[in-house]
Amino acid sequence: MNKNEIFEQRLKALQKMESNAAVKQHLKGKLTARERINVLFDEGTFFEFDAFVEPALNTMSDKQSSFGDGVVVGRGLVQGRSVFAYAQDFTVLGGSLGYAHGMKIAKVQEMALKLGAPIVGLIDSGGARIQEGVKSLSAYAQIFRNNVRSSGIIPQISVILGPAAGGAVYSPALTDFVFMTNQTSYMFVTGPDVVKEVLNEDIDMEGLGGGNVHAQKSGVAQFVYDDEEHAILYVRKLLSYLPSNNFDPIPVSTNTHFFESRQSYLNNIVPDDSNRPYDMKEIINIIVDKDSFFEVHEKFAQNIVVGLARLDGKTIGIVANQPKVMAGTLDINSSVKGARFVRFCDCYNIPLLILEDVPGFLPGINQEHSGIIRNGAKLLYAFVEASVPKITVIVRKSYGGAYIVMSSKNTGGDFNFAWPTAEIAVMGPEGAIKIVNKNELAKADNKEELKKELIAKYKNEIANPYRAEEMGLIDEVITPSDTRNVLITAFEILSNKQYIKPQRKHGNIPL
Ligand code: HXC
Repeated sequence: MNKNEIFEQRLKALQKMESNAAVKQHLKGKLTARERINVLFDEGTFFEFDAFVEPALNTMSDKQSSFGDGVVVGRGLVQGRSVFAYAQDFTVLGGSLGYAHGMKIAKVQEMALKLGAPIVGLIDSGGARIQEGVKSLSAYAQIFRNNVRSSGIIPQISVILGPAAGGAVYSPALTDFVFMTNQTSYMFVTGPDVVKEVLNEDIDMEGLGGGNVHAQKSGVAQFVYDDEEHAILYVRKLLSYLPSNNFDPIPVSTNTHFFESRQSYLNNIVPDDSNRPYDMKEIINIIVDKDSFFEVHEKFAQNIVVGLARLDGKTIGIVANQPKVMAGTLDINSSVKGARFVRFCDCYNIPLLILEDVPGFLPGINQEHSGIIRNGAKLLYAFVEASVPKITVIVRKSYGGAYIVMSSKNTGGDFNFAWPTAEIAVMGPEGAIKIVNKNELAKADNKEELKKELIAKYKNEIANPYRAEEMGLIDEVITPSDTRNVLITAFEILSNKQYIKPQRKHGNIPL
């Protein structure tokens, strides 16, 4: 065989391997590593390298079936911008991470960091390759180290498209966003068999670590979709909002359409009865550019809403209390969800819009014993720490500690606006009058009547936006239908915000 024939033979072997893989994956209703790559990237833009890397310890009888060691790595374009990716091939030893496989991933991570481009991991893996022992563990360690070193410099996205078992879970956990698929992806540190053996608990893979479990209960996954193609297409969508790295400007869309005719609807969206719920997402969708709101962590801790959107074409991050769920109270999960999102936006210079309607922190033994103090402090810390432009609009309730936390003026809010419906005070009227008017109420013949009077007086004199406005704690009380215009101008004013970080290694966020 001459040199060209040897080269062609290797290429053919690779192709054969891939067509065998396709049969196996398709039988399970899954795409192959390369098909996934093709969905992710603009057509014909993927540039692969290390396709012929061989396993550090070849456990397969046929050497040529191990070309690439079970992972495809390279770089392509997403909406014309450079993105690096790796895709694990479950048909090669269950996508398990051998040393060579791990070093391919580490190499593509290092290139992404060096070149300031996002990285996407398409994960389908049984974890550390058992046959390779500590070699495999060392490769994982290198990957985790790269994840941490890249954090806050380039966006890192993980897409779980099969098992992610053992070591395979920790790289996704260190990245900015985790996508999963329903019924075909699982994440767990130890699988159902170990759970049965150690704890005698019966559970299947879906119940232990399926997409819905992680999207709703654990909060490990920010996104879950019914099929692989959708999951990957939504990764493309997410990337369209993000800068390529922490020095690049945020992408600006030329499409600035918005619901012009619906702006006046905002003037009546908040119910007269302040205990009646409404949907904060309606407000968001009216204010931002048409159809631009892309919710993150939609199914987890729904009492807070976070997501990316565009305002006049520019990416913003939104953190909003949701009065429709648990009256919008802040609890442990919502505080952590909010804090993580605020910190993500701050890393990538994405300005923050805070829409506030929060009666306070959720009371209760469970919350206190599980650490609402420690976890609520995360949200407070994250808002104070964030140096991007921060604008708060108080829509309705803003009571007590929750007033302070949600980027109030003295925590560093750049602009703080309120709607006329805002109620800003130490606590809600019912609680306040019970304390302040305790004696009066005890003596009253008609308690209910007096309560009503006192509540009305409290709302009139204390729980409104005007006291805060008089003190400059609210920069302006605005007409709800003007909110979009006010925000566009305010963000434009803040676009030159300068912030010199004090010298320190890093702060100590209450983890
Ligand atoms: C080597 C592995 C493997 C692994 C799977 N395979 N996992 N080979 N190392 N970790 C191989 C299988 O032997 C099999 O090879 C092929 O992949 C497909 O696996 P199946 O079990 O047939 O597939 P399926 O029934 O779909 O189950 C998939 C699975 C299961 C759920 C991932 O294979 C499994 O539980 N694997 C082990 C998961 C695990 O415990 N990982 C933790 C490793 S320890 P053949 O030749 O038969 O096709 C770890 C610690 C690192 O990761 C800690 C770092 C922080």
